[in-house]
Amino acid sequence: MILESVLSELEKNRGKQISGQQIAKNIGVSRAAVWKAINSLKSKGVNITAVTGGGYCLSENDDSLSPQSIMSLLNCKQIAQYVVVLPTTESTNSLLKNFYSQMQNGFVLVAESQTSGRGRMGRTFTSPKGGVYMSIMLKTKFDMKDLTFLTLVAALSVCEAIKLCTGLEPTIKWVNDIIINNKKVCGILTEASIEGETGNIEYVIVGIGINVTTDLSKMPEQTRNIATSLSEFYKKPIRRANVIANVLNCFEHYLNILQKEKKEIIELYSEKLCCKNQKVHVFASNTTYEAICKGINENGNLIIEKSDGSIETLKSGEISILPENLFKTE
Ligand code: BTN
Repeated sequence: MILESVLSELEKNRGKQISGQQIAKNIGVSRAAVWKAINSLKSKGVNITAVTGGGYCLSENDDSLSPQSIMSLLNCKQIAQYVVVLPTTESTNSLLKNFYSQMQNGFVLVAESQTSGRGRMGRTFTSPKGGVYMSIMLKTKFDMKDLTFLTLVAALSVCEAIKLCTGLEPTIKWVNDIIINNKKVCGILTEASIEGETGNIEYVIVGIGINVTTDLSKMPEQTRNIATSLSEFYKKPIRRANVIANVLNCFEHYLNILQKEKKEIIELYSEKLCCKNQKVHVFASNTTYEAICKGINENGNLIIEKSDGSIETLKSGEISILPENLFKTE
């Protein structure tokens, strides 16, 4: 607990100097205990410099991930009351699922890497260090038809968080890929458990994986060709804690909008939808064909125009950007 408290004190003063004596006084421990905790934090890679006269300073650009580094940047009230950070795990979604009965609404699990990250449609999600991998447990009442909306809310939150952290303005490829310059920077996997007897939703897990400073050359070739990272476009240091905290703050913001006005979520999402009026590849119901992406309807379903001119809406499935559109700027 001393370690966590010392880190909180340093976080409160990030970029500024605070004396060991002051930290000791604030958390009610001896200076020796503070010194020990500082050394332990340093050995874990936290960038703390000792200043003459016994003071310490947590570097402005320190990119170590901890509940403290994330929570010091949060302004949400229901989401992220509990944040756990792991250096690695198989999949943050799977771990939350396994322990769902012990998790409260808004619990957030973050991992610095995943060994078996999961994507949509049973695919794997390559999750090396440099990205952020997070899952949010939701246990408030949701209707089945709200599930798509939660994915839309997550996508909007990621776009806004990226904009706040870097000034970049990503777009969304229906339903849940976040795109920069026609390449995927983030994927979202929303999973829910339905109670057998009542048909009610027991819990929803929203999993988000963002390539922040991910070394794309280490990705499998197939992924490398379609993936990008924030650091490919933003050349200044990016703190992963800042990205995560902004996603969580925005998630709560858009969730509140969703509870009042679904239409607004649709409007905001539509503004960010990529490929509008462009030819795309559609993968749905075990077939694949080309169509023109027309937008989304009031339920978040995709509207497409098929080659025979007929209009269809897709509840599930996926679209991909055609190679001829890959280098077009929107
Ligand atoms: C996709 O692009 O198909 C969805 C990818 C979702 C990845 C995130 S990373 C955090 C969470 N844990 C997982 O195993 N998957 C999601």
